[in-house]
Amino acid sequence: MAKITFITSDNETITLEGTSGSVMALAVDNGIKGIDGDCGGVCSCATCHVHVLPEHVAKTGEASEIETDMLELDDDADKFSRLCCQLEISEALDGVVLRVAK
Ligand code: FES
Repeated sequence: MAKITFITSDNETITLEGTSGSVMALAVDNGIKGIDGDCGGVCSCATCHVHVLPEHVAKTGEASEIETDMLELDDDADKFSRLCCQLEISEALDGVVLRVAK
């Protein structure tokens, strides 16, 4: 079980618990504003873009090459950006805080 916190563009903080699957699916299933997951998690839409809080980057690791390529198309991307369909829920993510990209 991992607790995952989202901060939406309205500055609403929502903490969800998940055991498996992607962080994008957890967010979409729970109606997190700003995470649409349009491509279904195949890393081709960037509608699941989040910024990992800098102090939590060790939990998520770095973006993959395909993810980085996708993020380069997004003006709002920075070095803390991830596509959360590429974040698999596990104990390693417990306590992570993700700011939903605009
Ligand atoms: S859901 Fe499309 S890139 Fe993540």
